[in-house]
Amino acid sequence: MKNDFAAWMTVIQHRTETALERWLPAANAAPARLHEAMRYSSLGGGKRMRPLLCHAAGEALGADPQRVDVAACAVELIHAYSLVHDDLPCMDNDVLRRGRPTCHVEYDEATALLVGDALQTLAFQLLAEHQATLAPERQLTMLVLLTQASGSRGMAGGQAIDLGSIGLALTVEELEFMHIHKTGALIRAAVLLGAHAGAADAATLAALGHFANRAGLLFQVVDDILDAEGSTVTLGKTAGKDAANDKPTYVSMLGLPRAKELAARLRVEAHATLDACTQDTSRLHALTNYIVDRSF
Ligand code: IPE
Ligand code: IPE
Ligand code: MG
Ligand code: MG
Ligand code: MG
Repeated sequence: MKNDFAAWMTVIQHRTETALERWLPAANAAPARLHEAMRYSSLGGGKRMRPLLCHAAGEALGADPQRVDVAACAVELIHAYSLVHDDLPCMDNDVLRRGRPTCHVEYDEATALLVGDALQTLAFQLLAEHQATLAPERQLTMLVLLTQASGSRGMAGGQAIDLGSIGLALTVEELEFMHIHKTGALIRAAVLLGAHAGAADAATLAALGHFANRAGLLFQVVDDILDAEGSTVTLGKTAGKDAANDKPTYVSMLGLPRAKELAARLRVEAHATLDACTQDTSRLHALTNYIVDRSF
């Protein structure tokens, strides 16, 4: 079972890479520097956590994997854009991402800004163009879902709260609100887009929504723990940046032991939400464990 899951992850990571490779503009197409930087920021790295969740939900609901590829890549492109902007000097000011210089270091700040803009629009273009076999209403639902998860009521809003919270002691509720938006929203979109690509009824969508809410918060709690505990080499990004930037995190608020307790509790809660699904959700169970047990 363990080997089966590891093999499945590798397959999904490869097919995501291949699909992104195909859908990103060619590096030699004009404007070549922008296209090269878009490819630099989205190919050849990352865990592909959101595509994995999207495919796991899609599989559970019998979705056509090629249809899921579109949704999975759309979310991954939004995620890649969010990382490029997150690393800019005006945000977290990071020089290392996925084991390589960040986009603005390798290219320049203006290019990094445009890479984010262009990856974001490419994500919506993909979702709008490539779902011909889906009913138009379902395609529209998926587009709306991703726009909401990306914008000021989702990831971008969470990032705004993050940057506005430097040096502040947030309440646990405020911290949860920030994490649910900056990271949870895209994780939720990944799960629900996968479900929409398959045959999801309202009850299943509700159950998967509850699952994704827990999994999304869990993902950022573990990211906070890894920032405090991990090494730069293993993480592929600069360790200890949250403390250095005076960011409120679950580690700064609760301390490491209690942050780990919270992660353990969220894992149990995420697993429990899956009990409400009648489908085979074993991949989502395994991905939840991976979110907690990962080393980067
Ligand atoms: C890092 O995301 C930023 C967060 C939202 C916590 P990931 O840990 O998924 O980064 P990659 O895609 O694997 O590099
Ligand atoms: C980033 O959170 C969330 C995003 C929307 C990109 P972090 O700032 O903690 O992500 P890392 O640690 O730099 O990957
Ligand atoms: Mg950040
Ligand atoms: Mg950051
Ligand atoms: Mg972090």
